[in-house]
Amino acid sequence: MSSSKIALITGANKGIGLETARQLGRQGITILIGARDAQRGAGAVAQLKGEGIEARVVPLVVTDAGSIRAAAAWVEKEFGRLDILVNNAGVLDYATETGPSTVAQASLRATFDTNFFGLVAVTQAFLPLIKKSMAGRIVNLSSILGSLTEHGDANSPIYPARLLGYDASKAAVNMFTVELAQELKGTNVKVNSAHPGWVKTDMGGAGAALEIADGAKTSVALATLPAEGPSGGFFHMGVHMRW
Ligand SMILES: NC(=O)c1ccc[n+]([C@@H]2O[C@H](COP(=O)([O-])OP(=O)(O)OC[C@H]3O[C@@H](n4cnc5c(N)ncnc54)[C@H](OP(=O)(O)O)[C@@H]3O)[C@@H](O)[C@H]2O)c1
Repeated sequence: MSSSKIALITGANKGIGLETARQLGRQGITILIGARDAQRGAGAVAQLKGEGIEARVVPLVVTDAGSIRAAAAWVEKEFGRLDILVNNAGVLDYATETGPSTVAQASLRATFDTNFFGLVAVTQAFLPLIKKSMAGRIVNLSSILGSLTEHGDANSPIYPARLLGYDASKAAVNMFTVELAQELKGTNVKVNSAHPGWVKTDMGGAGAALEIADGAKTSVALATLPAEGPSGGFFHMGVHMRW
């Protein structure tokens, strides 16, 4: 059994996931780079190793039950437990998000497959290993776009957003966070939702407000919460988000 903490970050070959891996790795945590493409995952691992971080790649397609099972079996064999799971993998298909009155079922289903069903399936598969940790931490990447309160507030910056599949999938992620945290109350496992901010990644675009280094900060903080930290919340940079 490894003495350092073990963290698995899904969709960690680029963007906020890779930066979350980097910042956790700098704290001496052993990093498992979840990647659906083994080559891209290996590239991320090589980068982190070059920076002195202990990292390994775990092939993980969050929409594929067999891939999830194999990843969990490998982590169990190699480490016997998991301390941190960052459910970071996500998709936003701007091309098919045509608005609530027209968006195609296929678009909604594809987005939910990754952002919600995949996230829940990965969490359920790894939960037995996370329960073996002294201080299990689950971070679910949500978004301010998943907030019903923000969507209903004409003064909110996201009021005009109409990305139904993405927005609803992140609202569903928030419900999973609340219900799982309640189920795990009294255990060593904490579960929280993160809004990373609007971040300059392939998804966020070049016009986004935050650099990637800042976009990873919320995930890193929630992944390393102390024993007295919150569970079942929705945060951005330590501040509660409105549900
Ligand atoms: N960027 C923002 O402004 C922003 C704001 C709010 C919330 N978020 C959330 O933050 C998270 C990270 O976003 P990002 O901006 O870093 O996005 P990104 O740069 O597009 O990266 C997304 C990552 O998810 C992976 N992925 C997608 N589908 C997958 C699947 N089925 N199985 C495994 N991995 C999969 C991608 O892999 P490939 O490289 O193989 O495609 C990639 O590694 C997402 O959950 C996103 O919704 C982002």
